[in-house]
This record gives sequence, C-alpha cells and structure tokens, in this order.
Amino acid sequence: MGKRVVVTRAVPEAAVRVLREAAEVEVCGQDRPLTRAELHEAVRGAHGVVAMLHDRIDAEFVEAAGPQLEVVANVAVGYDNIDVPAVTERGVAVTNTPGVLAEATADLAFGLLLMVTRRLGEGERLLRSRTPWNFHLGFMLGSGLQGKTLGIIGLGGIGRSLARRARAFGMHIAYTGRSRAPAEVEAELDAHYLAQDELLRTADVVSLHCPLTEQTRHLIDEAALRTMKPTAVLVNTSRGPVVDEKALAEALRAGTIAGAALDVFENEPEVEPGLLDLDNVALAPHLGSATVETRTAMAELAARNVVAVLGGRSPLTEVGT
Ligand code: GLV
Ligand code: GLV
Repeated sequence: MGKRVVVTRAVPEAAVRVLREAAEVEVCGQDRPLTRAELHEAVRGAHGVVAMLHDRIDAEFVEAAGPQLEVVANVAVGYDNIDVPAVTERGVAVTNTPGVLAEATADLAFGLLLMVTRRLGEGERLLRSRTPWNFHLGFMLGSGLQGKTLGIIGLGGIGRSLARRARAFGMHIAYTGRSRAPAEVEAELDAHYLAQDELLRTADVVSLHCPLTEQTRHLIDEAALRTMKPTAVLVNTSRGPVVDEKALAEALRAGTIAGAALDVFENEPEVEPGLLDLDNVALAPHLGSATVETRTAMAELAARNVVAVLGGRSPLTEVGT
C-alpha cells in the first residue's frame, strides 16, 4: 500500500502535484480551520501532513495520526503552532518554509508602515465616506521616514529584507535580537546592534520580526510601550501575541506612542475592539506572505519536504529543537 499525505486546507495546485508524485493525497476541503477533533480525525493513518499555522500540532496530534506518521510540514516560517520537542521525540520530522516569504512579508510591513505614517487608511476612509475635502498645506499631514531610525527586533530573513527597503527610503537601521547578525550583514545594511531597551528608547519605528516563543510573548507590553518615543510607530507582521494588544490599544489611545501597523493579532482572527476605532492604526488581516508567487513557493517547499522524508531523504528545511 502506498503512502498517504493529508493536507489540512486548500493549497496551490502546484504543491498537490509535487505530493502526488510520492503519495496518495487528500486535501481537506473546508473553508475554515479544522477543529481539533476534525484535525485528529483527518490525519488518522497519514504518513505525511501538510499543516497550516492555525493547526495545533502536539503529542495528541501525533497519537491521533498513528505510529506511521513520518513528517509534518508547516506552510509557514513561524511554527509556534507546533510543540516541536513533543513531535520530534516521537520520531516525526517537522519542517517550515524559511526564505521564500521574506520579500513578500517585508513588502507588506513597509506598505503598512507607509499606510500609518502617511495616513492612507484614514484618507481613504474620508473619501469613501463622501466627506467634502480640499487641498491645503496643512491637510492630513503625516510624518516622513527619511533620516529616521528603523529599529528591527529579530534580524532574520524578513528583518533583513525590511532593512533593505528602509535603506532605500533613507532610514537608519538599528536592530536587536537573541544574537548579533554576522559582520557582513551588519556592514551591508549599515545596521547597528542595540540592547532592546536602547532600541525601544531611540527608534522612530519599531518593527517585530522575531518568532513567537515563551521569551517573546508580550515582548511589547505596557512598559515597553512607555519606553518608546511618543512619536514612534510599532509595526507587527510577526505573531500577534508578541504584543500585549490591550496595552497597545490603550497606548495608542493615550498617545504613549504615535501609531501602529498590524498584520497579526493576539487572538486571531479577533481584533481587540479598542483598536478598531482608532485612526492612528493601520490594520491588515494576516496578509504578510499573501501573494500568488509566495504562497505557491511556500506550499511547494512544504510539499518537497514531505516528499523528501517519505522517500527516505533528509528534509530540506527542518525545524531544529
Ligand atoms: C506566516 O505567518 C508565516 O509564518 O509564514
Ligand atoms: C524568513 O523568511 C526567514 O527566513 O527568516
């Protein structure tokens, strides 16, 4: 009997074709995340699973799938939905999709940043509400980015791609993270390493590009927001829980910081109601990697990881423990 792969939600057809070369493929057809029970039911007997960032992959998932399970390929670079030690300890490989989504996500982060600093959402809402307006020199002034400092938290693939864009806009680059970037990366981006507190105190824009871990949960809390400049803007295209969303809504309301650009939310798909009425926040529904090209590349990479493991080869982009 051939091997079986379960894909928990629709993926680009190109990825299904890759999987079909190695296995019998079953794509779950619902247009919402599977419930935990449905997920466990769907993966029973699977040798490989292509999973989404909303699927909880843990010891019980592996038990539900059965002892034949060899690989779980997450179609995302972030893998906070996976209890990696619990899964790998049961002999199951875990993979993610690094690299292929850095440019698309950096594009979105920069777009959202411009949206808030140049008040684009607010301006569009004004026009759509048919409110009369006319050009004058003091009308809807935003703030420029040239000469300002971008503080990047987590200078991985996405952080670096964002830094390149910011340099083209005339920004200075500071960063912080668990470790220093290689000297050639610092040199290429003219990026200055700062302690986190110093970065929060001095950056005009703080952009989050770290994974969600126990160390980064609520990294941006009330105290961090108070450390930031009152003119500063926070950008989050990483994972919602890196920010204490209630504290952020309060800080934006009180003018503790000037604005925020958010693609991800603490209780996705819910958005903290306090944010929805504020004009100094730009909001997007988790679109960071949402281009045809990037989603195809992500799904294909996940599929190639599954095919490699089922064929007895090493996965291409395995997640470490
Ligand atoms: C998307 O959010 C990802 O982690 O790839
Ligand atoms: C993002 O794509 C990364 O590789 O960090």
